[in-house]
Amino acid sequence: MPGRSVREFTRMKREGEPITMLTTYDAPTARLVDDCDVDIALVGDSVGNTQLGYDSWMDVTLDEIASHTAAVARSMEDTFLIADLPFMSYGASLEQGVESAGRLVKEAGADAVKLETPPGGEVTVELVDRLVELGIPVQGHIGLNSQREKAEGGNFVQGKEREESASAAELVETAERLEAAGAFSLIVELTAEDAARRITESIGIPTIGIGAGRYVDGQVLVVNDVLGFGGSGYRLSKRYADLDSVVSEAVSEYAAEVRSGEFPAVEHTFDPVDEG
Ligand code: KIV
Ligand code: NA
Repeated sequence: MPGRSVREFTRMKREGEPITMLTTYDAPTARLVDDCDVDIALVGDSVGNTQLGYDSWMDVTLDEIASHTAAVARSMEDTFLIADLPFMSYGASLEQGVESAGRLVKEAGADAVKLETPPGGEVTVELVDRLVELGIPVQGHIGLNSQREKAEGGNFVQGKEREESASAAELVETAERLEAAGAFSLIVELTAEDAARRITESIGIPTIGIGAGRYVDGQVLVVNDVLGFGGSGYRLSKRYADLDSVVSEAVSEYAAEVRSGEFPAVEHTFDPVDEG
């Protein structure tokens, strides 16, 4: 059973309690994140770049998201778990989206799904409405929709008065439509701070920002960026540790000790033939 319900997040917004969210892709990280009192874990399609060695999140399949979601779900007790609907796992038909979301919740064990929802997005708003009616909580995702990278010709900051950007007014309208369709929360990605603030003030459901500044109801980052482990290269993230160095040192030391004969020693050996 989920430790937190979607209502809790609306309450947190109302009471001004910041919501903490972090991507999580595997069992060991999930156990630690669960112990660290993070509110929401996300199996994002960023798993493609950070864990699966793809050049792009667009290559990630529903099977891959489901597999990582299941690993995380088995390893968490209290953290609310959201799974991303990857590129082309929804939108071909309402049925396709419902079946994909159903798999992530019913089989893989997510508490909710997230989907990118562009301005004027009839198809995605209809899907949100349908999923919520069926009992699947949905987090919308506005601002930068990186699954539209090919259609947009790149990834641009949103909420600015520029041709390659949705205006603040369009984003506010999209946020209101998603709230009306029943989304319990919205990711606001790579969006000018003033636009993100206007969105946040316009709706009763919480906004969770990434590269959206300070005036949102919560923050999400990619765990590899936070840990300094591989990293996603997200430009507005903050690094809290340097796991790359920790891992490099440990792996190099292990290899060097095997080569020098220092490892394994007597204490790593069953029935040693001598005392070394
Ligand atoms: O895939 C992901 O990690 C995301 C976050 C950037 C919100 O969608
Ligand atoms: Na994503």
